Amino acid sequence: YSMSAFSRLEKLGIRHPKPSPFIGNLTFFRQGFWESQLELRRLYGPLCGYYLGRRIFIVISEPKMIKQVLVENFSNFTNRTALGLEFKPVANSVLFLRDKRWEEVRGVLTPAFSPEKLNELTPLISQACDLLLAHLKGYAESGEAFDIQRCYCCYTTDVVASVAFGTQVDSWRAPEDPFVEHCRRFFQFSIPKPLLVLILSFPSIMVPLARILPNKNRDELNGFFNKLIRNVIALRDQQAAEERQRDFLQMVLDARNSSSPVGVEDFDIVREVFSSTKCQVDPSRQHPPRALSQPLSVDEVVGQAFIFLIAGYEIVTNTLSFATYLLATNPDCQEKLLREVDLFQEKHAAPEYCSLQEGLPYLDMVIAETLRMYPPAFRFTREAAQDLEVLGRRIPAGTVLEMAVGALHHDPEHWPSPEIFNPERFTDEAQQQRQPFTYLPFGAGPRSCLGVRLGLLEVKLTLLHILSKFRFQVCPKTQVPLQLESKSALGPKNGVYVKIVPR
Ligand code: HEM
Repeated sequence: YSMSAFSRLEKLGIRHPKPSPFIGNLTFFRQGFWESQLELRRLYGPLCGYYLGRRIFIVISEPKMIKQVLVENFSNFTNRTALGLEFKPVANSVLFLRDKRWEEVRGVLTPAFSPEKLNELTPLISQACDLLLAHLKGYAESGEAFDIQRCYCCYTTDVVASVAFGTQVDSWRAPEDPFVEHCRRFFQFSIPKPLLVLILSFPSIMVPLARILPNKNRDELNGFFNKLIRNVIALRDQQAAEERQRDFLQMVLDARNSSSPVGVEDFDIVREVFSSTKCQVDPSRQHPPRALSQPLSVDEVVGQAFIFLIAGYEIVTNTLSFATYLLATNPDCQEKLLREVDLFQEKHAAPEYCSLQEGLPYLDMVIAETLRMYPPAFRFTREAAQDLEVLGRRIPAGTVLEMAVGALHHDPEHWPSPEIFNPERFTDEAQQQRQPFTYLPFGAGPRSCLGVRLGLLEVKLTLLHILSKFRFQVCPKTQVPLQLESKSALGPKNGVYVKIVPR
């Protein structure tokens, strides 16, 4: 049993590190998934593999193969893989739903992320941004060096609370607020290492066992978020339609019985966002509803609010932190950006969704290059439903395919001098010359990031507001080069220490 699972990669002709009994290549990932991904690519090439416990993973950083998996053969690679032990609302979220139910729920959610809806959310995000600026002003006045990542954490928590959970908080001033405290506990929650090793080594016994074992912490967290959403639903049901706050939660509640007729062919928002610089907000655009096979249950509504915590919060915080670090350490780029910000501010008194999309091309390039160097979601997966041959390779049913976005973004064949921050890689001309599927910070295909517009909106709006008042500066406490952590999303290991100076 200890070694019987470990001949499959070799049979497929896929190179991999030597597995150890029971645990496979678990120890290969000791230093974190980011470093190990780059190491796997360096040692074994753009198509290689590993065993996590008894599970077989094929790691791909080859653009043509990635396209085959994410787009051309989507119907065979529809689902992401999961351990089977996810926290209940996480398992109910669109991130982990599978097959038909995923398609239905994604159809419900897609219109909630349209430019029209995001335009409605912009004031809520700006409100949280005002709180952030007030905190930063204190640091600018004192001239103290500080960890800006902590400020971004509070800011994104406030955004999640108001946009997804219908609750107003100021996490900076009120860290003891139950919402803030439960979010913190949710992120601290992890499976203890020895238990994880057991689960990976004996999945058929341990996964069902771990599901039924009592877990007070998990149940308490689950209960808190469930109760919070149930209370908001009850309150909104009592309010007249025009009194209800127009947030994401309300959009999901409005759509809980019926889906829009948006089908898989319309799901690829990432392609839409990156293929057009034109922004259209058309409030009259309405999708006639279509009945769902089953209305969304309260658990499922809670699950969709959770995508903001699991897919939005950490990734947006880390993107802002990385952008700050890169601007502070590249003052020429920052100066160029400041000039663009000043011009933009002269033209637009209050930024709206569309003006932000069209009026800040250099900011777009800076963010794109930040996500190229440090893609927070640097690995994501698809599971093979059936045996299939892809570009001459046999992929057996059940295999997990991992897109190695970190290795792809640091491949010198596609990105010369990949360690250098150079936003000019994202001029229109440079982008047209690049091979497709070499840049995937938001994934690709029908299952790509649903929140791409919202994520970019948050990052842009925040940097615009900050840079119109301050500039970032390195200080002796700034760690150069930045140490990274990659237990889940890629992030700075020890925060990002900078100074900010009033302009
Ligand atoms: C800079 C910010 C963000 C980045 C870099 C990012 C990146 C990603 C990536 C790489 C994936 C996997 C794509 C794939 O499997 O092909 C993903 C999925 C997803 N993201 Fe984002 N994301 C960001 C912000 C957000 C935000 C703000 C939200 C929503 C609140 C969000 C919601 C989702 C959802 C729901 C999925 C799963 C979609 C599905 O399974 O159908 N993301 N994101």
